[in-house]
Amino acid sequence: MSAPLRVGIAGLGTVGAGTVRLLGDRRELLALRCGRPIVVTAVSARDRNRDRGIDLAGYRWCDEPLALADDPEVDVVVELIGGADGVAKRLIEAAIAAGKHVVTANKALLAHRGTALARAAERAGVAIGFEAAVAGGIPIVKTLREGLAANRIQRVYGILNGTCNYILTAMRQTGREFAEVLAEAQALGYAEADPGIDVDGIDTAHKLALLTSLAFGCEVDFPGVHVEGNRHVSATDIAFAEELGYRIKLLGIARPTEHGIEQRVHACMVPIGTPIAHVEGVFNAVVTEGDFVGQSVAEGRGAGAGPTASAVVADLIDIARGRSVPTFAVPADALRPLVRSPMERHRGPYYVRLMVLDRPGVIADVAAALRDELVSMEAMIQRARAPGEAVPVVLTTHDTEEAAMRRALARIAALDSVREPPRMIRIEAL
Ligand SMILES: NC(=O)c1ccc[n+]([C@@H]2O[C@H](COP(=O)([O-])OP(=O)(O)OC[C@H]3O[C@@H](n4cnc5c(N)ncnc54)[C@H](OP(=O)(O)O)[C@@H]3O)[C@@H](O)[C@H]2O)c1
Repeated sequence: MSAPLRVGIAGLGTVGAGTVRLLGDRRELLALRCGRPIVVTAVSARDRNRDRGIDLAGYRWCDEPLALADDPEVDVVVELIGGADGVAKRLIEAAIAAGKHVVTANKALLAHRGTALARAAERAGVAIGFEAAVAGGIPIVKTLREGLAANRIQRVYGILNGTCNYILTAMRQTGREFAEVLAEAQALGYAEADPGIDVDGIDTAHKLALLTSLAFGCEVDFPGVHVEGNRHVSATDIAFAEELGYRIKLLGIARPTEHGIEQRVHACMVPIGTPIAHVEGVFNAVVTEGDFVGQSVAEGRGAGAGPTASAVVADLIDIARGRSVPTFAVPADALRPLVRSPMERHRGPYYVRLMVLDRPGVIADVAAALRDELVSMEAMIQRARAPGEAVPVVLTTHDTEEAAMRRALARIAALDSVREPPRMIRIEAL
């Protein structure tokens, strides 16, 4: 059997401790599968005395994570600290400069600096493994880099944040509003005390930016992602969606259009008959559409110690076996600058909910605003009748350009009888 692969792990929180545990528990199986053992030689975190539920007695402790980059007994630096900047960035850069392979779960860092890091790694002849950075236990990075590498990808989309999906699922199942369900998710530990990164769509956008690069051979362009969260989704919209045959999901979607590459994160209405509509709770799913393979759907746990450690170790297995592919599937110098397809040029059907005063002529005014912007209505629901009071009116449109939809909504919002800002949710044809 060949010499062991020596691993230094920085960060011993949820993912780091899970990784140490997995490497210990599966030592023999991994040695068999890799043809050599994978051994942890050094670890680093802030607090040496913290109880992490794992026995660290056999591992050399480094107070300073950067020391792992220069450690002659470390072949691979596993960065599980997190953060788009700071020590995680310095550690990965130092490890690459020292000629060490890197494995990380850090989507924020890669979303901001992925292209530059991929170039540096390639120059140094080392690998960057980041399976754990996107959709945890779903091996979508490997799928795009290897399994589907023969295809031109036409679209990639998914539920990439378990917190958002948990909240939307609980809202639908209980009929409660966003704020109430978020508070419950925080109490259960499914949502952070500061939930913005999740519910405002930023975490999904980090992951989408990485998927886009992998799928379309372009540089990672996180600032180019159109990002909306799901705070504005109400229980009323979820109920209307159900009535219209849809579920509401926060999706990250990337696809080439005639204008460039569209990258967007927002709440979508997805047809109830599609697999993604049935991905519930904290689960993630990624759907890929390739020209030869067609559609493929993968569902699984997107976070947590076990699934994320599983992904980290999958990357270590590849390195131990000596298997390496370019970070974003093509050589870093061949990654093209991403041409952004502006959101105003997005085309698709829309759902709009208005709260209007129930009085004669209102619907005609709304229809006129749509007609003036050449927006074609598909259906309208106005069920409740309460003369003189505000009632919901819901309409769906045929395929419309976003710019026209926004102009029509501005006209509608300005009508006297429209009592609240219109709510718009894009319908995704899947
Ligand atoms: N949690 C998940 O399910 C999940 C899923 C996918 C990806 N990820 C990603 O995985 C990474 C780690 O996430 P996590 O949930 O495991 O985080 P976490 O539980 O907060 O753990 C972070 C670890 O980093 C250590 N650390 C922080 N600052 C440090 C410093 N300056 N020097 C040395 N060590 C430092 C902490 O040390 P102490 O323990 O001593 O404080 C802790 O052990 C992040 O990039 C995250 O986005 C997480």
